[in-house]
Amino acid sequence: MKFGHFDDGKREYVITQPNTPLPWINYLGCEAYFGLISNTAGGYSFYRDARLRRLTRYRYNNAPFDVGGRYLYIRDNETGQFWSPSWQPTRTPLDHYECRHGMGYTTIRSSRLQIEAQTCYFVPMGQNLEIWQCSVTNRRRKPARLSIFSSIEFCLWDAQDDATNFQRNFSTGQVEIENGVIYHKTEYRERRNHFAWFACSEKLAGFDTQRDTFLGAARGWDNPAAVERGKSFNSVAYGWAPHGSHHVKLNLKPGETRQIIFLLGYHENPVDQKFDPPDSQTINKRTVKPIIAKYLDGKNIAAAFEELRRYWDGLLGVYQVDSPDLHANRMVNIWNACQCMATFNMSRSASFYESGIGRGLGFRDSNQDLLGFVQMVPARARERILDIAATQLAGGGAFHQYQPLTKRGNNDIGSGFNDDPHWLILGVAAYLKETGDWSILDEPVPFENEPGSERPLYEHLRRSCHYTLERLGPHGLPLIGRADWNDCLNLNCFSDTPGQSFQTTTNKDGKVAESVFIAGLFVLAAKELAAIARKRKLNAEARRYLAHAAKMEEAVCRHGWDGQWFVRAYDDFGKPIGSKVCKEGKIFIEPQGFCIMAGIGLKDGKARLALESVNKNLATPHGIVLLQPAYTKYYIELGEISSYPPGYKENAGIFCHNNPWIIIAEAMAGNGDRAFDYYTRINPSARENIGQLHRCEPYVFAQMIAGRDAPTHGEAKNSWLTGTAAWTYFAVTQWIFGIRTEYDGLLIDPCIPARWKGFKVSRVFRGETFNIEVRNPSGVMKGVRRVVMDGVEVVGQLLHPAGTGRTHNVLVEMG
Ligand code: GLC
Ligand code: GLC
Repeated sequence: MKFGHFDDGKREYVITQPNTPLPWINYLGCEAYFGLISNTAGGYSFYRDARLRRLTRYRYNNAPFDVGGRYLYIRDNETGQFWSPSWQPTRTPLDHYECRHGMGYTTIRSSRLQIEAQTCYFVPMGQNLEIWQCSVTNRRRKPARLSIFSSIEFCLWDAQDDATNFQRNFSTGQVEIENGVIYHKTEYRERRNHFAWFACSEKLAGFDTQRDTFLGAARGWDNPAAVERGKSFNSVAYGWAPHGSHHVKLNLKPGETRQIIFLLGYHENPVDQKFDPPDSQTINKRTVKPIIAKYLDGKNIAAAFEELRRYWDGLLGVYQVDSPDLHANRMVNIWNACQCMATFNMSRSASFYESGIGRGLGFRDSNQDLLGFVQMVPARARERILDIAATQLAGGGAFHQYQPLTKRGNNDIGSGFNDDPHWLILGVAAYLKETGDWSILDEPVPFENEPGSERPLYEHLRRSCHYTLERLGPHGLPLIGRADWNDCLNLNCFSDTPGQSFQTTTNKDGKVAESVFIAGLFVLAAKELAAIARKRKLNAEARRYLAHAAKMEEAVCRHGWDGQWFVRAYDDFGKPIGSKVCKEGKIFIEPQGFCIMAGIGLKDGKARLALESVNKNLATPHGIVLLQPAYTKYYIELGEISSYPPGYKENAGIFCHNNPWIIIAEAMAGNGDRAFDYYTRINPSARENIGQLHRCEPYVFAQMIAGRDAPTHGEAKNSWLTGTAAWTYFAVTQWIFGIRTEYDGLLIDPCIPARWKGFKVSRVFRGETFNIEVRNPSGVMKGVRRVVMDGVEVVGQLLHPAGTGRTHNVLVEMG
């Protein structure tokens, strides 16, 4: 069953039924001001940091799931009937409903009682505000006398404190109302120099700023007293819950359409110019008024929307594919790229599954995310890399997370996740391959943000590598620390106390438990580092890295190979995990993917065996599960992984993030049929028809799909903010279509289903456009017979951009 459809021409997903199985959301904003918006206008907004600068309030895990948002009410003043044009929060049946999520905007259109409403929500480029451009049309044969009410609930900035510290917060709320603009200024009197504002283009019939007055005692958003009676209370918030509501009266002739613009914004004043007059407590509004005036003008809104569209043209234009597969095309060309930008902007902080108060930017996550967005925003990727590297510890380890506003490492979680440092090498490698900007390696970057500790970025990469060499276990494999990529494999925790963190509680000295996954990651990263060193003419150093990689590879083959697949780890007793000798958890996905991606076993048949074992033991129609058999009980020596019921999350769920590792491994091994088949199994567009089972958005990847041990096998959870976005994008664009960035150019190395006759890719790379047509006349899965660029046959498969900014026509013949 479907709840909508793709409109690829417009780059939109069209939801045609408001009660989707879960809220289906979109993101607004791409720089500093952000919003989450569901298909029924639920969600919230914030400035830069979802926890510390939250503009509007949102209650997670609510019932109904999604209440609280950017709401409008339409009231028929003849009959007193009212409804929400976005369906929530009144949930009054609509005669027609359609929500279009597009690139950076969402439009909700509906009609009831022959009154049509359409609202387009977006954030203009370079501005700290959102626009709700609303138009209302009277389709009746007679005039309509209507009232429109807007409604948002302000958050008192720190979303965590806002949700808990009621003894204080019920007394701090303050607002100002001037010329129909509602200003939310809680804590402005003391240390804040920022406020929120909510404006409307029309003359107001009234307003409300105290939530409980607007709603009335014991009422909810579905039936506010002000809307029911058809008249605002003109309430002014002192304490309690500051709220924003405008009341506009509209008299529409038959057929008439009227536009109403609402603006919600964030504004900062210079600290010494907060008040006007200076000795008053009144907000200085001189700096914000021109902005408000500008965007209350429809002409400027149209221009801003056009600018947003062009911005996305630019982002998406970097890689466009035309293949025989519709689902791959639309994900690569539109939605997967869009999701990668969301992970760039949000990391794992704010989605409908990440509350915006929990996690900062993850060191490991952010580096992997780079793989998906570096081609779209290389300059910002550069900045991101330098920010991440500045949180690295002098010993090469890393703070597991850092806060976006302060850019400092997060002490609560600390470090000791022994995979972390290597992701920096992979992130930097991806950046270098995309841009050829070798100067980044010479950028001075501090350790732990400590002024004076700056060393070139390259030195950070060295220390990342040495971090592992200094932490080898009894088998010569890397010690795992608190966890590796799998946050839930906690081999030093041994927690028996409810509520303890599996990651930060450590009861063992950590000198025994080892990770084969980190070994694979290390080999891959050390090889990249060797290539980078060679480019810097540090040939001896490059050889050393290769020697370390070879030695690690040997340790993997000796102690990390189980006969049919790679072992996962050794626990604190030195017993293997992910081995045939185990009762449960005999085989894991991660080492199969990463060891093969590192090149281990490609020559001696281990890779093929491991991939067959994955196919036999882990692959399901809904994707590849993380391990088998699932853990049926809690194992104190394994930690959080065995805390999940079988089939969910890391305990044998389909953790989509690492499915692309197997896809890449299959592509490396030359099996294009299987690589593409695995890709399609988790591709949300290809799962659109099973929406009732899948439940999450059909236009973005989810972190997890319930595994075969779960009663809800095939059900997705935790959409949007997941490493799946970058890895699937990377796998399909660089390994299946095989248009791959290398240090010296663009490599053409497709690995596709044998039945494909060919495909086309247009790729903007280092300032040049490559229009590539791949033909597959003999139906192979991999192998390139010849490459012709601009009429001249290329030696090998690498295209060298000459920096001329030209457009090239490239013809590739597989065979
Ligand atoms: C989550 C985390 C990521 C981790 C993964 C597996 O996606 O954000 O860092 O690698 O879970 O545990
Ligand atoms: C990762 C995992 C999640 C776990 C968390 C630990 O995000 O996906 O299952 O609870 O790490 O903090």
